[in-house]
Amino acid sequence: MVTQERSGGTLSRREVLTLSTAMLAGSAIGGGLTACAAPTPPAAPPDAPPLPWKWVELDPLEAGRRAYRFYKERGGCGTASYLSLLSLLKEKVGYPWTTLPDMMMAHAAAGYGGHGTLCGALGGASTIINMVTFGEVRDQYQQNSQMIDRLFWWYAEQDFPTDRFDDLSPLPGQIRVKASSPLCHVSVSKWAVAADATVKSDAKIERCAKVAGEVAYIVTTALNEYSAGKWVPPVWKPSSETAHCAHCHGPDYGEQKAKQWNQQGHMECMLCHTDHTEY
Ligand code: HEC
Ligand code: HEC
Repeated sequence: MVTQERSGGTLSRREVLTLSTAMLAGSAIGGGLTACAAPTPPAAPPDAPPLPWKWVELDPLEAGRRAYRFYKERGGCGTASYLSLLSLLKEKVGYPWTTLPDMMMAHAAAGYGGHGTLCGALGGASTIINMVTFGEVRDQYQQNSQMIDRLFWWYAEQDFPTDRFDDLSPLPGQIRVKASSPLCHVSVSKWAVAADATVKSDAKIERCAKVAGEVAYIVTTALNEYSAGKWVPPVWKPSSETAHCAHCHGPDYGEQKAKQWNQQGHMECMLCHTDHTEY
């Protein structure tokens, strides 16, 4: 039998093995164990609490200014809107917001992966809206989507960029153009054509940093109202053309489905369709 001398006694091979395993485990979690301490398993981190997560009143202008800066310093529109809100929530609420990574929405830049789909500022902000308002049932067919739906509609209606962040910008007073769509490609291209700017230009970067700031500003305002129990969803007022289409194609006039067809969008129909009823 293999034994080992120790002061006043012997240690079996099994005891030696157990001890060295404990020491290995100890060093793996930061060397907290000494040779004599009993091995304690590392405490498991708590599971993420279920949504919704707590919101407190935040300063919309501070959120917007952070978003403007994060756009340029941290990497684009998705991070700008998301991290502006998250960084304030980490400071003012703490846990569980402190568990979220700063760069979670980095991929949303330039319409997600550079694909030109949804404006990343809308994507980043929507993630936070969902986490704060989840469980709110206002829609017929979805949970808590009304704030996001109205945000996208508001965005498409805006003449961007606003001058709210001009004091931070080396290019104040830029030409303002209606986004026309929540799609990055449409929003950016309409502006770039009118401004005679390329998508890589400093002017475009300024424009989008200000757009991200404005989105963060407006979302903070809405969530402040929401948490105070005062948020009333703005009524969707489409253009007359879109209202005409929606009358038969929905989604808000479900009883009048054209041939049982419906469509689930609130975008400007005429951006992509022609009017088949005008003959
Ligand atoms: C008076 C009701 C009515 C209105 C208003 C209306 N549609 Fe339609 N739409 C229909 C019907 C019915 C069909 C099916 C037509 C068919 O099968 O010939 C249809 C078909 C379509 C289709 C399927 C593709 C096609 O052309 O066959 C699209 C897309 C469409 N509509 C888009 C629109 C848009 C965009 C508008 C607004 C500019 C609009 N519709 C306004 C009733 C309407
Ligand atoms: C970003 C572009 C875009 C916008 C904005 C858009 N559509 Fe479409 N829509 C399409 C495309 C693409 C199709 C597929 C057409 C096809 O394959 O013929 C389509 C299909 C449809 C169809 C046929 C659906 C089916 O099941 O066959 C209807 C109806 C329709 N759209 C209505 C609308 C209405 C109403 C609006 C405005 C509220 C709208 N669309 C906005 C691009 C768009």
